[in-house]
Amino acid sequence: MDIARIPFQTHGDSRGMLVALEGARDVPFEIRRVYYIFATQDAVRRGQHAHRSLTQLAVAVRGSVTFLLDDGTGPAEVTLDDPTSGVLIGPMVWRELHHFSEDCVVMVLADQWYDPTDYIGDYEQFLREVQSPARHEVAGAWPRR
Ligand code: TYD
Repeated sequence: MDIARIPFQTHGDSRGMLVALEGARDVPFEIRRVYYIFATQDAVRRGQHAHRSLTQLAVAVRGSVTFLLDDGTGPAEVTLDDPTSGVLIGPMVWRELHHFSEDCVVMVLADQWYDPTDYIGDYEQFLREVQSPARHEVAGAWPRR
């Protein structure tokens, strides 16, 4: 799958660097939720789910982490190790986070409040849903969402 990286505007001077993210301006959605993951171990694999409707933007604000992303057309990996860009993850994308550096802090901006019913936690179920003809009829309908 194609991975969408979003570069951020940075405000740097002799005092250091600053990045500001405004909903619907620097981030292509209104931000409803922010969470961050830290104190992870290198051997840990997190995520291992998809969301039916959630869109998120993930940023490694410190350290590094690798994302495996799969929209049903095959997996791709991207390593986030730079606080001046993020990766956009839309609905119906399977994600797994691995190879966390010891100091890693991943911040995630989301367009919806936390909703456990939006999760698909089983990869085979994800493939069934992402490949279902009904979903493609909706996705191809006009007007596009
Ligand atoms: P979990 O979904 O297992 O994290 P990951 O996808 O990174 O493996 O979330 C861990 C716990 O945190 C779980 O009990 C649900 C809770 N949680 C919230 O309460 N709100 C949130 O926005 C998120 C993402 C998780």
